[in-house]
Amino acid sequence: MIRVSTVSCSFTGNASIGSTYRGFKIFSIALSSSVKNPLSSNTTSITKPYYITTPIFYVNAAPHLGHLYSMLLCDIKTRWVRLSGKPAFFTTGTDEHGLKVQIASEKNDKKNPKEFCDELSVTFKELAKLTNINYDRFIRTTDDDHLQAVKKFWDIVYEKGYIYKGQHSGWYSVSDETFYPETQIEAKIDPLTNKEKFYSKETGTEVIYETEENYFFKLSKFRQPLIELLKQNQNFIIPRNYYEIILKELESEELQDLSISRPYSRLKWGIQVPEDPSQVIYVWFDALVNYLTSTGFPWSPTSLIQKAPLNNPWPASHLIGKDISRFHCIYWPSFLMAAGIELPKQVIVHGHWLMGGSKMSKSKGNIADPIEMANYYGTESLRFFLSENSVLSSDCDFTESRLNLSRNQFIDKICNLMLRSLSKNFSIERALSKYESGLYTNEQFIKSFDNPQAEKSIKSITADLNVLYERMDEEMKTFTTHKAINEIWKIVLKANALFNDAKPWTFKNVQDSQKEVSLIEDPLSKQDLIIFLSLETIRICSILLQPFIPELSNQLLDRLKVDSDKRMAKFAKVGKDLTYGKGVVFTKGSEVPLVKLPLREGALNV
Ligand code: MSP
Repeated sequence: MIRVSTVSCSFTGNASIGSTYRGFKIFSIALSSSVKNPLSSNTTSITKPYYITTPIFYVNAAPHLGHLYSMLLCDIKTRWVRLSGKPAFFTTGTDEHGLKVQIASEKNDKKNPKEFCDELSVTFKELAKLTNINYDRFIRTTDDDHLQAVKKFWDIVYEKGYIYKGQHSGWYSVSDETFYPETQIEAKIDPLTNKEKFYSKETGTEVIYETEENYFFKLSKFRQPLIELLKQNQNFIIPRNYYEIILKELESEELQDLSISRPYSRLKWGIQVPEDPSQVIYVWFDALVNYLTSTGFPWSPTSLIQKAPLNNPWPASHLIGKDISRFHCIYWPSFLMAAGIELPKQVIVHGHWLMGGSKMSKSKGNIADPIEMANYYGTESLRFFLSENSVLSSDCDFTESRLNLSRNQFIDKICNLMLRSLSKNFSIERALSKYESGLYTNEQFIKSFDNPQAEKSIKSITADLNVLYERMDEEMKTFTTHKAINEIWKIVLKANALFNDAKPWTFKNVQDSQKEVSLIEDPLSKQDLIIFLSLETIRICSILLQPFIPELSNQLLDRLKVDSDKRMAKFAKVGKDLTYGKGVVFTKGSEVPLVKLPLREGALNV
C-alpha cells in the first residue's frame, strides 16, 4: 500500500506538493469528537475497517446488470472480510448532478431535477434490496453532508493553490460529462440532417465545441507524482492490464490542466463554487468526493489539514468499470494529493458485461435486466452466476441459458449431495460422533475400503476442505471470484464422485447384533465416513459461500441445523463443528432449497 507521504516529487507550484507530502508526514492524528464513525459505536477501537466503494450511478436511466455487478463485487468482498470477524465498510449511491441529469429531468417533464433524482435513486436502492446488497451507506450527491464536504474539499484545494480561473475551449460531451482533447474527436455525417457532426472516438457520443470561463485544476503538476505512485505501488491499480494502460498513458503524454467548473448560465443543476455562485462545480469533482463524505469528511471542519482518524475507514479501495479508470486513477489521486489527503488504497477495475457477445443496447433488444432475471431465476442464482462467470481483466458475456445452466449445476451437485446425505437410511449423529475417535484418518480403516479411487478421494477431500478458506482468501484478495468459486467446485465434484463410487447405501449392519465389532470392522463405519465427508463438504462450502449467496447458503446451513454462531470462517475446517444435524432427515415430499426451471419464455437462447 502506498501513502502520499512516500511519493517523492520534484516540481514547484503555488503551494508545492513536496511540502504537502512533508506536511502529511507530520500531521497529528486528531480523533475529533464531531467525526461520525459510520461503522461502530466503539470509538476506543483503532481497527481500521476495510473500506470498499462502488462508483455512484448516474440517475439518468434505470439500473442495469453492469450496475448490479459493481454492487455485487463490493457486497461479496465486504461479506468475505466480515466472515473472518474483521470490520468492513461499504458504500454505494447515486450521482445526481450535471447536465445529463438536468436534460433527462426536463425531457421527463419533471418540476425540478431533484424530484427526478428522488424517483430514480430509489430504483437503485430497490435493486440493492432485491439482490441482497448490504451496503452501509447509500450516498446521494444531493445529500446535505455531501454538499458541505464538496465545498470544504474545494476550499482546501483552492487554498493550497491548485485552482485558478481561466478561459476554456474544447469539445464537450454531455453524455459523458467530460471535455475531450482534439485528438480524441472525429467528424461524421449525420444521416438524418446530412450535416457534419463531431463525436468522441472513445465513446462514440456527440461532442460540441464550447468556449467559456471556468475554474481549472492544475492537473499538469501531477504527472510525475502519479507515475512515481504507480511505479512504487504496482498494486495500486489491479488487474495488471489496466495498471499498464494508465501508466503508459501517463508516460506518453503531458497532462492538461482540467476544467472543474461550468458557468451557472449553462449548468444549473450542481453545487455552486464557494464564493462564486456564477460557477457550478464539475460533476466529476463533485462525485468523486462522495468517497470522503461517507467517512464523515471533513474530519476536522475548521482545519485545512485533513487526516482521517485512526478508526475512520478512509482510505478506501475503489471498485470501478474500465470506462471510468481515468477519473479514478488520474484525476482523483491528483485531487487528493493537492488537498494533502491520504490516497486510496487501491483501484480495482473490471470489464463490461456483454450480452450474447455484443454490447448491450436498447435498439438490439439485448439488455439484461437484473430485476427480471432476479425475479425469475432468483436473486441467489443470479449472484452465483455473476460471481462464477466474471473475470475483471476482460469483458464478460451474459447469456440467460448459461445462467440457467449454472443454476441447474448448483441443484445437481450441491443441493442434491446434501439431500442424498440426509436420507433416513443414514445416521448423521452416528457419522459425526465417530470423528473424534480418529477413525476417519486411520490408514488401516481407509485401506479397508479396498477401492484405490475412494481411498484417494477420502484423503484429498479432507485435505482440500481444510485449506479451502485460505485458497479462496488468496483469490478474494484480487477479487478473482470465479477462481474462488472454482475451489468450491473442485471439492464438491470430488465429494459427489466419492458418494457415487463408495455407495454408502450398500453398507449394512452386521447380521449378528450380539457379536461385538470394533469401529474399524463395523461396515456401517464406512457408510458413516462417506456421509461425514459429504456433510462436511456441504457445511464448509456453505459457510464459505455465504458472501456470494447469503440467503441460499444459509438455507443450506439451516437445513443442516448448523448453529447461527458457528457460521464464521473459523468453523470452516473438518470436524470444527460436530454439533449440527440433530434430528435432520430428508424424506420424500420435504421442501427442497431450489427447484429447476425452464428457460424463461422469450429469453434469447444464445
Ligand atoms: N457516475 C459515474 C461514476 C462516478 S463515481 C465517482 C458513472 N456512472 S454510470 O452509472 O455510468 O456507471 C457506473 C458503473 O457502472 C461504472 O463503473 C461502469 O463501468 C459500470 N457499467 C456500466 N455499464 C456496464 C456494463 N455493461 N458492464 C459492467 N459494468 C458497467 O460512470
